[in-house]
Amino acid sequence: MKNKGEVYSCSKSRRTFLKNGMVAASAATVGAGVLAGGVHAFGQEDEKSGKLTKGDAAILRFLAAAEILETDLWVQYNELGGIQDSEVPGGSGSPPYVAALKVLDGDMDQYIHDNTEDEFTHENFINAYLASKGADIVDLEPFRTLTGSKATGSSGKPRLTNLMELTVDTSWWTRYRSRTKNPDFGDTFPQAIPSLAVGKHPAIPRTDDDLTPNDHIQAIANTAGFHFGTIEQGGTSLYPSLAQRVTSVEVLRIVLSIGPTEAMHFQTWQDKAGNAPSLTDPKDTTLVFPNLNAPPFGGEDFQTNLIMPEPTVFLSRSLPVCSIVRPTGTRGAAMGAAKFLTDMGLFRGQSPAFFAALRDLAADADEARRECGERDNHER
Ligand SMILES: [Fe+2]
Ligand SMILES: [Fe+2]
Repeated sequence: MKNKGEVYSCSKSRRTFLKNGMVAASAATVGAGVLAGGVHAFGQEDEKSGKLTKGDAAILRFLAAAEILETDLWVQYNELGGIQDSEVPGGSGSPPYVAALKVLDGDMDQYIHDNTEDEFTHENFINAYLASKGADIVDLEPFRTLTGSKATGSSGKPRLTNLMELTVDTSWWTRYRSRTKNPDFGDTFPQAIPSLAVGKHPAIPRTDDDLTPNDHIQAIANTAGFHFGTIEQGGTSLYPSLAQRVTSVEVLRIVLSIGPTEAMHFQTWQDKAGNAPSLTDPKDTTLVFPNLNAPPFGGEDFQTNLIMPEPTVFLSRSLPVCSIVRPTGTRGAAMGAAKFLTDMGLFRGQSPAFFAALRDLAADADEARRECGERDNHER
């Protein structure tokens, strides 16, 4: 069983223990620095935690980075396929892409807009909270170097993420439908859309050439439809996984309040992905969206209206099955999330410095341990 040793009771952080003097010094520091892009070079000096524990600051910084990257990708979706307004400005929409997305649900543009706005608020809140505690914040702007879509409707501004060469893992589809398996036990799951899990696929129109023929722009919209679920199920697992390492009750409250909104996004997108029409992309005949309700698919592991988690094994196979988020193992959770985002091709074209920064933020978050009796843990 993989879970052994992953239960974190209160303990002294190894880093705090080793660097007690430095932590005390940084706790007295007033004013937040900017990490990644700004004043601190990664790996060269100790990031400031301010009034937070080292671990809490590291967890929040990794989450801030993840949210910045999520915001960037959702902004690209909103510019072309969502609703551009004062809440989520940028771009002017691509009517053929919007129409193809609406095949999945007539409200797709509104949902894309709302998911995008949510990510902005996650990013802004976490960084503002870090700053309010005198801890370093995260700024990835120097890595905004990728060329985005050139299709009509795109703002054309530089991007942090690449939505045009995605390799989309859709195994979450069968993972949440399985009644006997859990990734925290080392179990693996078949892909819902096997051809999306290999190769490089656009999830937004790259140029106006992608707007025709009809089945091609529909394949791009279908890819987006599944990518939405892939991204948001990742957030749904990331927050509870890292929550197990948080020390302050207030930081725990933040993590426990943002995480479930990722699950609300995931739930919506899982429902919409099930409406993606079956087709073969005429411009890339290797890309096939099968009918998930018919052989060789079908059955409970693929059925499109099973959008709530099927109960499955949790913690121990000797305990009764339970309807749960999975995975939620905490060991290596941040590095796992960084790898998951990298493996999907989201950062294709990014610089070595970007990957080094992401790895450093993840390593620090994974090093966090829940601590006892050192911080303000009163109930609120
Ligand atoms: Fe988020
Ligand atoms: Fe999200």
